[in-house]
Amino acid sequence: MIQPALLHPAIRPALHLLCALPLAWLVWRLLAQQLGANPAEALIRSLGDWGLRGLLLTLAITPLRVMLQQPLLLRYRRLFGLWSFAYVLLHLLCYVAFDKGLDVNEVLRDLLKRPFILVGMLAFVLLLPLAATSFSAAQRRLGGRRWQALHRLVYVATTLACLHFWWMRSGKNLWVEPAVYASLLALLLGWRLHRAWLRACN
Ligand code: HEM
Repeated sequence: MIQPALLHPAIRPALHLLCALPLAWLVWRLLAQQLGANPAEALIRSLGDWGLRGLLLTLAITPLRVMLQQPLLLRYRRLFGLWSFAYVLLHLLCYVAFDKGLDVNEVLRDLLKRPFILVGMLAFVLLLPLAATSFSAAQRRLGGRRWQALHRLVYVATTLACLHFWWMRSGKNLWVEPAVYASLLALLLGWRLHRAWLRACN
């Protein structure tokens, strides 16, 4: 049964609040000096974690919509997508500001020296046109098909983001978390491929 509760005007502000909570919690811990011995590192990492979780959640909306038979869930996909982008953008800005002291040459050197940073940057660059065209006016201007084709980049960007995470942690032999995120991504992409295959067979 379709849940009309999903149309309730309080849902959108409540979801915005929910998405802002990790950020508010981080800022609170930063101000209270509770981010440990290396607050900059904790901040960058936590923002990256929430960015990746957000991307996976955004990709999960369509399978959830179909499996739970709740077409109205689609109304909130853009909200999750934009919040994920905001976390990733803050992740990048904090890295540039606190890790590299706003020195662009240092950032460029890091991009060439550490492949996991380069992969993260590629993921970020792929997300840029998606964020820029996430609004209804851009969708209308591009036309449904082209907009959809462009927004398929989110699969590539999320795959690169998982690789970025995997690569960074693998240097420290910490596999479990990246493996969990990669498995979730594989499930989400596998579901889509299976659905496309079923469609092609019919
Ligand atoms: C879609 C884009 C991105 C996502 C989803 C993402 C996500 C992540 C995640 C999950 C981590 C690991 C956090 C942890 O260990 O708990 C991480 C680490 C890191 N990311 Fe990203 N990232 C992205 C793009 C970038 C970009 C563009 C840069 C910089 C150019 C960057 C720089 C870093 C750095 C420096 C770390 C390691 C932090 C440390 O060890 O101190 N990331 N990122």
